[in-house]
Amino acid sequence: MIRRFSILYRSPRYRRVPVGIQPMAFKPHDTNGQPCRCSPGLAMLLLPMGRLRQSSQEQGSWFMPTISFASSKGGAGKTTSCIVLGTELAAQGTQVVIIDADPAQRLKRWSQLAPLPQGIEVVASAGERHIQDEIAVARGRAPFVLIDLEGTASRLTSFAISESDLVIIPAGEEQQDADAAIETLAEVAMEGRARRRDIPAAILFARTSAAVKSKLERHIQAELKAAAPVFATQLHRRTAFSSLHNAGAGLRDLNPADVNGIDKAVENAQRFASEVIDMLEEAMNAQVA
Ligand SMILES: Nc1ncnc2c1ncn2[C@@H]1O[C@H](COP(=O)(O)OP(=O)(O)OP(=O)(O)O)[C@@H](O)[C@H]1O
Ligand SMILES: [Mg+2]
Repeated sequence: MIRRFSILYRSPRYRRVPVGIQPMAFKPHDTNGQPCRCSPGLAMLLLPMGRLRQSSQEQGSWFMPTISFASSKGGAGKTTSCIVLGTELAAQGTQVVIIDADPAQRLKRWSQLAPLPQGIEVVASAGERHIQDEIAVARGRAPFVLIDLEGTASRLTSFAISESDLVIIPAGEEQQDADAAIETLAEVAMEGRARRRDIPAAILFARTSAAVKSKLERHIQAELKAAAPVFATQLHRRTAFSSLHNAGAGLRDLNPADVNGIDKAVENAQRFASEVIDMLEEAMNAQVA
């Protein structure tokens, strides 16, 4: 997969860089801000992130994406995926503000379990009357703003979606997940119409098994692929991901003596983050074109 991204980076599509953005020499950083010791392949994988980080700094507010995690199904994987993306972006040296816009405040709870990785700030939303101001303030504090939404449609979710540059819809491989994802896509489209702009949305398969798919799972994947863009990367069901909810901090902070498969989860998170950057870049290119 790492090879896939390095090929992708060299591909003509990547040469279509948006106006004002130039490829740059990028040194990935770890969560302490120290340069990472990583393979050339991994460095290549992280290049798009570095380019966006530089562009955010150079362009001011020109590219400061707001990404919401939405699904009308409870337990779809919104909070977990939001933590995984936020901590991964921060691990690459980017600043991220995560707004916990779910009254249940599970993400806020995660943020209090252990010291947060450098570059991440978590704020709890004060509700629908405040969310737009909270997003505006967060945009002034970090290039990436992530919003973890509650599992039911509400005015708060509508406001957050309408402010988003990308809506990520986590889904499992059950019919209820597919129905909820389609419902959420319809909500995003409705907000887009109200705002007279396309709001990019994509489905992220989460809590999936890496094993061979059953007929039902294949059917659900096909149904969702026909409805919307789907991340090639899936956040498979891994103990490392669920452990974030009781250990706090990021995947790299988990103790390998307590949790199996941290490396695979980190690789998974890197691919997911890289695809998110690809998707944002595509959306930007579409806007510029
Ligand atoms: N990729 C994964 N691997 C293992 N466990 C996962 C994964 N994604 C989510 N989970 C687990 O599934 C449960 C629900 O996940 P999560 O809280 O992220 O869903 P949610 O959509 O935010 O739910 P809610 O709508 O209630 O806020 C949690 O216990 C979490 O640990
Ligand atoms: Mg949640």
